[in-house]
Amino acid sequence: MKVIIAENYDEMSKKAAEVIKDVVKNDENAVLGLATGTTPIGLYKELISACAKKEISFKNVKTVNLDEYVGLPKTHVQSYDYFMKDNLFNHIDIDIANTNLPCGDVKDLDAECARYTALLGKMQQSVQLLGLGSNGHIAFNEPGTAFDSTTHIVNLTENTIKDNSRLFDDISEVPTKAITMGIKNIMNAKKILVIASGKNKAQAVYNMIKGPVVESCPASVLQNHKDVVVVVDKDAASML
Ligand code: F6R
Repeated sequence: MKVIIAENYDEMSKKAAEVIKDVVKNDENAVLGLATGTTPIGLYKELISACAKKEISFKNVKTVNLDEYVGLPKTHVQSYDYFMKDNLFNHIDIDIANTNLPCGDVKDLDAECARYTALLGKMQQSVQLLGLGSNGHIAFNEPGTAFDSTTHIVNLTENTIKDNSRLFDDISEVPTKAITMGIKNIMNAKKILVIASGKNKAQAVYNMIKGPVVESCPASVLQNHKDVVVVVDKDAASML
């Protein structure tokens, strides 16, 4: 793993954006694996600005997102579909038809999991961006998830529901289930870029990089991938 320690959140966002920009510059047909959450917002701002300056174009880029809540329609402000449009897709020159998220608002969730896994089979991520849960989760693969998992439905842990409740009016509104890429789908990416910021991520960052490779810390599996770049700020790196 290549570990880059940035001074603060803004520098983390800039350095991580450079990794994505390089991938897009080298391959205009790149497949970007994208994440939601608070951490990537600054990175997405950097990509928007690079696109506005015509430094990069997303015209032929395709995207696959990690996950989505179950039960929220795409139009819900807390859905990940909405988040991606609001924080990135609506502000760059991407063809929205080239963007993909798993859908959590369907009757047959098993069929949706199979559809998304099949799609990922046809679209290997040139780079997969990951945020990191404070309990070491990647996407919504919570501690204990099998390393050979593909797209599946998860019951979110209390810890994750609590972490995510800051974005909702009330904790009771946070969905309790999500549909997520599995760990095997993530590990299939050619390159993986992990970003983390803040002291509350320090233990997870430590476990991901220096801990044993165990299913109780899903991010530790990344030690088995041959091309991982970790960009963290000083606070998130404070236990390394
Ligand atoms: C988001 C995702 C999650 C987040 C993680 C960190 O698509 O899959 O694993 O990356 O929960 O979230 P933030 O960035 O909000 O701390």
